[in-house]
Amino acid sequence: MENPMLPEKFIQRFGKRPDISVFAPGRANIIGEHTDYNHGFVLPFAIGQGIHFLASANDTHFIHIQADDLQESVTLDLHHSDVSHDQGWIKFVRQIIKVLANKPLKGFDMIFGGNLPIGAGISSSSALTCGFVAVLNKINHLEMDAHDMMWTAIHAERGYGVQGGIMDQFSIINGKRGHAMLLDCASNAATYVDLHMYGYTFYLFNTNVKHNLLHTDYNLRRKECESAVATLVHHGLNIHSLRDLNVSDLSPIQPLLDQTLYQRASYVIEENQRVMDAIKAFENQDFATLGQLLYQSHDGLAQKYQVSCPELDTLVKMTHTIDAILGARMMGGGFGGCTINLVKGKLNATTLSEIKADYFNLFGIHADIFEVFPSDGIMEYGLTKNGG
Ligand code: GLA
Repeated sequence: MENPMLPEKFIQRFGKRPDISVFAPGRANIIGEHTDYNHGFVLPFAIGQGIHFLASANDTHFIHIQADDLQESVTLDLHHSDVSHDQGWIKFVRQIIKVLANKPLKGFDMIFGGNLPIGAGISSSSALTCGFVAVLNKINHLEMDAHDMMWTAIHAERGYGVQGGIMDQFSIINGKRGHAMLLDCASNAATYVDLHMYGYTFYLFNTNVKHNLLHTDYNLRRKECESAVATLVHHGLNIHSLRDLNVSDLSPIQPLLDQTLYQRASYVIEENQRVMDAIKAFENQDFATLGQLLYQSHDGLAQKYQVSCPELDTLVKMTHTIDAILGARMMGGGFGGCTINLVKGKLNATTLSEIKADYFNLFGIHADIFEVFPSDGIMEYGLTKNGG
């Protein structure tokens, strides 16, 4: 999880030991996709892969940051916001500083790096943002609690343009080892779900088609859902979001919406139901049903919500002939990134290489496959004397 070389690199770069160490995980989501900004249900968990940050105050008004994996670095002046610093990961740091503008912030030195693929739908941006917020919180003694940190990260990311929900930041900050979180995105209340997997495992298949949600139809989908709600309210329905409807409302609302808005709305309403059905499946240890729910979720995302892509569809389709895989679906914002797969036991080496070879033959892209385990949320480590 931690990169053993990072403390050494910090010392090389800044000539001193770090005194703050933070680990921000990525997240997986079992089911409940594109439901968070519709005030619905999601079932995510923090994963073991993530980003590790080492930092130390520097008694100046400059922030020096080195992105170890990308071999990039930047210096930001807290007294002067330089708009040219608006690309890649740097924009998130600037947005956080903007959100915290009314706080007395001090300069610091920082290095970060990890094993979270970028643009893979496992929340590398939110891990970065939440990690930066945690470092700023600690360095400046801001005393932010989990809720404040989460909203600081959310506002910073929205400031950059993607009008996301709360699932990613919530799971990164509140993750609990061995558990998923059933998060109700209307009340923001979460229940931890003990993931006794009884020999089942989740694997992620990364299409390595990278997505930047700002350049996809993500924001458009959110607007379409809001339009569907506005249209239904106009027709006299007493609702605030699609969350207020359930599958028995589908027939009555169909004539009130145009075809596209109905497709979007019906996907969201059905997906909320699937999250509830998934909880029951976990309670009954009925992994066959859980697998079917994942496949149904993918079909809805691909056909009704239209946020999938041929590479994701193919990786899901390939699993139908693999006995060990009970269900699969695209995960996260879509338009690229990973699929999540429910696997009985482990995938053997032959299966792994067959999937990779078939995928490469079709798209000329190497897929990555890895297991994910429900892990703790953001963590601050105590540092030993030599900064390790
Ligand atoms: C992205 C967003 C989340 C959520 C998912 C789709 O990851 O950041 O808030 O909307 O897409 O479920």
